[in-house]
Amino acid sequence: MQRFIVFEGLDGTGKTTQIKKLAEYLTGRGETVFTDAEPSALPSGKYIRRVLSGEIPSSPWATAALFLADRINQNIDSDNGIKKHLDAGETVILDRYYFSTFAYQGYETDMDWAMDMHYRCPELEKPDLVLFLTMSPEKCIDRITQNRADQPLEIYETTEKLTEISEKFNTVFEKLKDKENIVYIDASGSVDEVHERIVNAVNASNPPKLALFDFDGTVIDNSRGIYNCINYACDKMGVKRPGSDIIRRFVGPPLYDSYKRYIENDHERALYFVDCYRERFAPIGKTEAELYPNIINLLSALKADGYTLAVCSGKPRQFVMDIAKNLGIAKFFSEYYCPSFSDTGLDKGDYIIRAISDFGSRRENTVMIGDTKSDILAAKKAEVKSIGVKYGFAAENELEENGADILCETVSDIFVAVTGKEL
Ligand code: TMP
Repeated sequence: MQRFIVFEGLDGTGKTTQIKKLAEYLTGRGETVFTDAEPSALPSGKYIRRVLSGEIPSSPWATAALFLADRINQNIDSDNGIKKHLDAGETVILDRYYFSTFAYQGYETDMDWAMDMHYRCPELEKPDLVLFLTMSPEKCIDRITQNRADQPLEIYETTEKLTEISEKFNTVFEKLKDKENIVYIDASGSVDEVHERIVNAVNASNPPKLALFDFDGTVIDNSRGIYNCINYACDKMGVKRPGSDIIRRFVGPPLYDSYKRYIENDHERALYFVDCYRERFAPIGKTEAELYPNIINLLSALKADGYTLAVCSGKPRQFVMDIAKNLGIAKFFSEYYCPSFSDTGLDKGDYIIRAISDFGSRRENTVMIGDTKSDILAAKKAEVKSIGVKYGFAAENELEENGADILCETVSDIFVAVTGKEL
């Protein structure tokens, strides 16, 4: 998901630890995350480090200008710059940004001058979210001296200086409250407590957009494998194979239900049917699947557009994961909401509700894409937008009659339905 998150706060507030934890959390959610810190690792940043250590004398005005120059370099660097990562659809997390210049140099120069230089510079990306970690200067100095007992302190690392800078930070964020998206995070408490506050702030400020896909008949055309396995199970049980109009109805709903509904209403035999079906499906049937045309383009375009993708299917999770891996699409999906072999799992609507909560998303940011009535009804239960695809296994008018919000004839239409843009 393309977004730019900045951490700010006094030295000793735990930014480094919290950035690492947030990056792990977002990576686990399927985002590609790039983290970096100021001053940069570029020559301009190395020069600043020598100023901060006291090795090279510099006036506060010059220091402010050095930070601006380094910041521009870090934004536009062609190898590893912030813009490059954002353009690639990644989440960038940065340890400090121009707010630090406003606070650290602003208090010895002219804050408005420092702001002007930055806000009038076209080569700086604006952050989507600024997390300001707050803690008393005394506690910060305690932490700095404990954690870095063997290293000399930098020029700003005294209680007096940090107290002044802390006040300056408050002035800076008060001044910018209508211009920037700033969230104050209480940085006292355990690492996990602070992490939780940060995750809540990140999710609240930018809930991920979630696209949930039914699998069979929506992402993959596995009719050949399914039909072959149904016929195999029927032959083995000595019952008549279903005709071509009935067999299509087996795709989507649980097999157990379909057997009882279309073949014979017998609990034990329906369970046995599922076993027979799986006997052929695990070794052979699951390889008889192919992607619908353009699916890879769709999934990668949705990811690039900032969507988190997950599968929501009634098919056993392991089967879905194996097929996704074999067909080269596993990398697009962050999670698989599907039953295990041994239980029937949750109702599809409840899976959608679970996914929204797991990813910290919202109903209005979520869509369910599927080819049958069960997908549309699940979307309705979870109160999310339903996108019905007509190329799958639904009966005539099934999607319309069950109130699909949008209908798609082709895979490319799905991109338009979800994003409003052409694929
Ligand atoms: P850090 O690596 O501990 O965050 O150290 C960076 C130091 O540089 C910290 O003391 C704050 C200071 N600083 C400024 O004075 N102005 C700035 O614009 C930035 C980014 C950092």
